[in-house]
Amino acid sequence: MELNKVLIASSNSKKIREIEEFLKPLGIEVVLPSRKLEVEETGTTFLENAYLKAKAYHEEFCLPTLADDSGLIADSIAPYPGVYSARFYSLEVFGKEEPIPSEDSANIKKLLRVLKDKENRNARFVACIVLYLGDGKGIFSEGVVKGYITDTPRGHKGFGYDPIFVPEGFNVTFAQMELSQKQKISHRARALKKLAEMLKTL
Ligand code: IMP
Repeated sequence: MELNKVLIASSNSKKIREIEEFLKPLGIEVVLPSRKLEVEETGTTFLENAYLKAKAYHEEFCLPTLADDSGLIADSIAPYPGVYSARFYSLEVFGKEEPIPSEDSANIKKLLRVLKDKENRNARFVACIVLYLGDGKGIFSEGVVKGYITDTPRGHKGFGYDPIFVPEGFNVTFAQMELSQKQKISHRARALKKLAEMLKTL
């Protein structure tokens, strides 16, 4: 299927950059929404939430719309942080943290506190990408990267839980890697690669 313009249903600049870096070489123009929509992520799966976001943005901006819903699942407290990854700090479960100095750092602080005495540090990032084309039509894909959670944050690149996640086969966190390296192995890149393959066959 020929696709030359895609709206990204997100306001997370780091996430947008990762998606943009992937789509541009495929000759797909990335369009950003002129305003942020407050989409309630009421789903219990990444797929449901990605679909809710893609559909809401499509209804507003009338363009093929790509939404990513993603998160980190720590094996010893699965399914958390999971679909609550962005607001894990504010959940009652395991006790709340203040979003200071940022929501990302509060999420990291809470996860490290909860995992403190856990032997099993294994975790995986999951990304679900929905490309919604309108009239109930669309395609989706999922990407996963396995790894483990460190004891302390390392590195300043990336976003979210990047400073505490070491992907399998590496000994640096996502936040210590260049974006080009993260783009080769990340959950988001894997989901986008699958989606690009599907587009070719449609
Ligand atoms: P969403 O925007 O509702 O999909 O929330 C995703 C949340 O999951 C982000 O706010 C991060 O906390 C976390 N997350 C997803 N992908 C990544 C990643 O590539 N690196 C670090 N954290 C991520």
